[in-house]
Amino acid sequence: MNDTQLTTAPMSAGQKVAMHYFVAAMVLFLAQLLFGMISGMQYLMPDLFFNQLDFSVTRMVHINAMVVWLLFGFMGAVYWLVEDEAQMELVGAKLAMINFWVLTSAVAVVVVVYLFVQIGPGELKSIWLINEGREYIEAPRWADFGIVVCVLVFFYNIAATFMKGKWSGISGVLVLDLVALAGLYLAGMYFTPNISVDQHWWWWVIHLWVEATWEVLVGCIMAWGLIKTLGASRRIVTTWLYIEVAMMFGSGILGLGHHYFWIGTPEYWLTVGGFFSALEPIPLVAMVVHAVYDSGRHGFKSSNHPALAWLIAHAFGNFFGAGVWGFMHTLPQINLYTHGTQWTPSHGHLAFFGAYATINIAIIYLAIQRARGNVWMSSGLADNGWKWKWSLALLNIGVLGMTMAMLIAGYEQSFVERALEGSTWSGYFQAQQAPWFVQSMHWRMIFGWVTSIGIVLLFWDMLTIGKKETRAIQAVSAPHEMAATPA
Ligand code: HEM
Ligand code: HEM
Ligand SMILES: [Fe+2]
Repeated sequence: MNDTQLTTAPMSAGQKVAMHYFVAAMVLFLAQLLFGMISGMQYLMPDLFFNQLDFSVTRMVHINAMVVWLLFGFMGAVYWLVEDEAQMELVGAKLAMINFWVLTSAVAVVVVVYLFVQIGPGELKSIWLINEGREYIEAPRWADFGIVVCVLVFFYNIAATFMKGKWSGISGVLVLDLVALAGLYLAGMYFTPNISVDQHWWWWVIHLWVEATWEVLVGCIMAWGLIKTLGASRRIVTTWLYIEVAMMFGSGILGLGHHYFWIGTPEYWLTVGGFFSALEPIPLVAMVVHAVYDSGRHGFKSSNHPALAWLIAHAFGNFFGAGVWGFMHTLPQINLYTHGTQWTPSHGHLAFFGAYATINIAIIYLAIQRARGNVWMSSGLADNGWKWKWSLALLNIGVLGMTMAMLIAGYEQSFVERALEGSTWSGYFQAQQAPWFVQSMHWRMIFGWVTSIGIVLLFWDMLTIGKKETRAIQAVSAPHEMAATPA
């Protein structure tokens, strides 16, 4: 198979598995936005679906769907790149497909139970069967064990393929990172009735995932993505990857302390958490420099403009959402006022979307290009590319608009509830009735609609882009730099 020709050859085993993950991921993305829209409306109409579909449930499904679709997207991306990197067929393709269906069915069962059993006593039985009560990873215990087994199968498939084939700098980092990612999940399974101890371990999953292992994972995917979309030099991207990983772990691991300020942990965390988490934006700046450097060096020439555009959106989204929005409230002197206000979801939305949704969309565009037979997906598309350009714009403007609305609401809360009213119960309600807060909640909905139109266009584009195209992609790199295509 040659990179510069249209192909009618069937996809490889790993690519087929990846496509399944991508489809499931996109369906869950849609579900995430649907439940997000309902949660947002319930802020404005507290009676909406009351006792039928409560805010506690819509919000939970919104953020759980997000975690699961992003993880599905990452697994798909790794299955997509593993054969290309290892220059070897996936070792356990059948096992990978069974694994996909088991995992997807388990997710479906968990969600159905969330929707049917919304309220009731919290006891040992409910922890095992219904809901564990830990935000973002509420899945009941039976599902926890199932997830661990599925992740082990996934890990085996990836590591064994690299072991049978070739190792590279990128794959070495990737496999070590997958060990850490799976290991940390276990910290979220430890049950204790002491809420401080419980939160202490729960953050090992949440913070150490998104600010350490997920960041490294997307670093690997980005490195591979830049080679594929731009023909960036492998030597240069691998060097950047090592630097970024060192800085990411150097700051992110102890940066965990920014969640230990007010949960009953020792006071030294104020200093440790404040200091190390303040360093966390540095590797994110490095990533922007890295992406812009490579794009500039190759004159933004790529056969897949949507993928390249979303990769650039990732570099900037990660920097602003995680780096800038995270830094804003990470010092304890500031967090004292902002903690748990709308400031937090303002950062949460921009960071998760900017850092993780974007790169998943980019890799899915790369996969679509191959699915359509390696067609040209760059300038001069049949429909002028309006769909991908508009969905890119609407999704980014929508999320940025929601972020700004919540930031203003968060300012209002920090000011009224914390600074003026000294964190009193009445101050809490006063802040939520303040005009700027209420208006911001309306603005969040308006931008929520913008985001929703964006995703509809994105689906439409993904289903149609490149279908009428007859030109083939062109090789993007000098032969000595090019990674071989899958066997
Ligand atoms: C892509 C990476 C990141 C993602 C996806 C992310 C996401 C989130 C989310 C969703 C929360 C809310 C957690 C909750 O429900 O309580 C949160 C909290 C927080 N994040 Fe991040 N974050 C990222 C990186 C960062 C960075 C780099 C910093 C600091 C420089 C930071 C600082 C904070 C702080 C201080 C809080 C606590 C907010 C509070 O006190 O209420 N985050 N983050
Ligand atoms: C259609 C657009 C969306 C709407 C209307 C929406 C609405 C909401 C609402 C109302 C909440 C609950 C906030 C609270 O507890 O005060 C929430 C939480 C959250 N949403 Fe969205 N959302 C949307 C899209 C997204 C997207 C695209 C992402 C990321 C990819 C995302 C990630 C999150 C996260 C991480 C939280 C938890 C934040 C925290 O606890 O700090 N949402 N969303
Ligand atoms: Fe954190």
